[in-house]
Amino acid sequence: MTIRSMTKASVAGIFLALLFPLYVSADDGYELWLKYKKTGDEQLLRRYREAITSVVVPGDGKTLGIIRTELRRGLDRLLGADVHFRATTARENSLIVGTPERSDIVRQLQRQGRLRNLGGEGYLITSVTRGTNRSIVIAANREIGLLYGAFHFLRILQTHKPIDQPDIVSTPRIGYRLLDHWDNLDGSIERGYAGKSLWKWDELPEKIDNRYHDYARANASIGLNGTVLNNVNANPAILKPEYLRKISALADVFRPYGIRVFLSVNFSSPIAARFEQEGNRKGGIGDLQTADPLDPDVKLWWKNKVREIYALIPDFGGFLVKASSEGMPGPQDYRRTHAEGANMLAEALKPYHGIVMWRSFVYDAGVDPDRVKRAQLEFLPLDGLFRPNIFIQGKNGPLDFQPREPVQPLFGSMTKTPMMLELQITQEYLGHSAHLVYLAPMWKEYLQFDLHAKGPGSTLAGIIDGSVRNSFMTGIAGVANTGDDRNWCGHFFAQANWYAYGRLAWDHSLSAEQIADDWIRMSLSNDPKTLATISSMMMASWEACINYMTPLGLHHIMEVDIHYGPGPQHNKGREDWRSTYYHRADSIGLGFNRSSTGSNAVGQYFPPLQIAFDNLETCPEKYLLWFHHVRWDHRMRSGRTLWEELCGKYYAGTNALSGMHTQWLSLEGAVDPQVFSSVKVRLDKQLVDAAIWRDTCLAYFQKFSKQPIQGQR
Ligand code: GCU
Repeated sequence: MTIRSMTKASVAGIFLALLFPLYVSADDGYELWLKYKKTGDEQLLRRYREAITSVVVPGDGKTLGIIRTELRRGLDRLLGADVHFRATTARENSLIVGTPERSDIVRQLQRQGRLRNLGGEGYLITSVTRGTNRSIVIAANREIGLLYGAFHFLRILQTHKPIDQPDIVSTPRIGYRLLDHWDNLDGSIERGYAGKSLWKWDELPEKIDNRYHDYARANASIGLNGTVLNNVNANPAILKPEYLRKISALADVFRPYGIRVFLSVNFSSPIAARFEQEGNRKGGIGDLQTADPLDPDVKLWWKNKVREIYALIPDFGGFLVKASSEGMPGPQDYRRTHAEGANMLAEALKPYHGIVMWRSFVYDAGVDPDRVKRAQLEFLPLDGLFRPNIFIQGKNGPLDFQPREPVQPLFGSMTKTPMMLELQITQEYLGHSAHLVYLAPMWKEYLQFDLHAKGPGSTLAGIIDGSVRNSFMTGIAGVANTGDDRNWCGHFFAQANWYAYGRLAWDHSLSAEQIADDWIRMSLSNDPKTLATISSMMMASWEACINYMTPLGLHHIMEVDIHYGPGPQHNKGREDWRSTYYHRADSIGLGFNRSSTGSNAVGQYFPPLQIAFDNLETCPEKYLLWFHHVRWDHRMRSGRTLWEELCGKYYAGTNALSGMHTQWLSLEGAVDPQVFSSVKVRLDKQLVDAAIWRDTCLAYFQKFSKQPIQGQR
């Protein structure tokens, strides 16, 4: 464009851009935490530029190509200059990225034993001095380790950390780090709040949306290495040959980013569609009359299907199965156990090193009157009967991703079967993509929860990373919050949850604050004041949400089906879906008695927890109404009665939210304007909806407590 051909508008645009150089273009959120904004601090910028005069990434291949592209994009933007990419090391301060096969310097590091404990995915970032030159070296045994290392290196620059003497060794603590999509074949997403599915099934395999690359890139940048493409309420059609070809095309895109593909499968898949009965989900895509896992024809059907999959996708990861749960078919339809069902699939996958992730999210009402006890009652007797390539995948809590739950006791009790942890990134019960709720503090609470399974120190994190029981198969899954919305996650701040999940899956010892700090710097601002304000909002957000929704251990009192607003009055339909089943409000008090005088769910925990939870005086108040039916006039530790405390908590929740709202308003001009206004609009709504939660719940419970609502406005 010549000056002459410029329109008045574009001249005005440039003028404005000169006036407000930070915001030449508004941030629509698409670039997530990979914006690579130019380093604003001049001194730091100079130091970075001096340290990275050139980049050397020897070798070819897709992953190395991705690394080069990422470093070029990242460094050019962060340093505001073209960085030279060279084929070999020159006499200057370079960034060298290589495996021992490709780089002399890395071979030397290998000889010094520096790569020994890195495994296949880990990396080392260090500096090597030769003469007057100092190079920064990213070294790994495999190329995928280099990609993770490259993202880490870029993060150092994005977050304005020094790079003078890097000495970083990083390996993932958990083997399988998956994102689970609850995406349906019609493009809808179960519990998805950010648009339609990313997978354009009607366009695949011919058309490869560029977004598939960006998706894989985002996941690789936070260390995720697998994706389950479809909903656990699986449509059997996903295993039809035409879908497998589409899936194979996606797997080809994801492979160089280190992302393996997994599928949710429907247990009835081998059954012919004509055997489908009205209203049940038993019709599959095969030609059999049964899906009985002990039937030789069924076994053969799965073997052949698995062979077909691996012929197309040699690194296919395996199957995720929701069986005999919420109406989904399963082995129990044939009077077989979960172990028999899972083993049949595991045998088919074994020759290809595929795995089965068999979910423990079951709650058959015939097993026990208390829903939260059922998974353990069903699965514990089967411990030891599962093939070695099977995970039992459990949700963090015994109920269902509620704003706060104690940890699912099965994680402590199963000693012979590897357990995979399932977290929910999508905010099904935490305000969808309308509420700003940073989930890392919640996940940290779960991960640090001590189950005492092998004495004190048996944290959930230690159980799932294999350190408590020296187990070898380790895994974690997060139910994705992504969709085809331009900004991927609906709420700008929901991106922080995707980000935090990946970072914790790689290293669960990171604190929620550290992760928030990185995310804010990468996504919004490195300015200390802005950073502190946003961090304080994020760190307060989960507790605020618990307080305005379900304080003191309340649970499952949300609006039916949609799971967004309050619904404490709900008392119709299946008993264990009613709010009244859970809160048990009456003239005496509130809460579910799961103590030894009630359902004895406390008995599923190891003694120190069992004793603590069982006793009203020692039960942590955050779980009080989860484990006890508590009198309205019970004295809480604060000295207030239960009713007063309940009111106080609901108001504390909405007050904290008002504080967050005010904090956000103070950031006008300090963050990108488009982000500012999109977040503001959502915070406005969150304020209104949180007050509805508070007022509805308190008005409802007041009918039982018969005491005035004591608000703290
Ligand atoms: C919850 C959720 C369902 C989901 C189920 C599951 O019940 O509301 O949509 O299918 O969990 O995890 O299987």
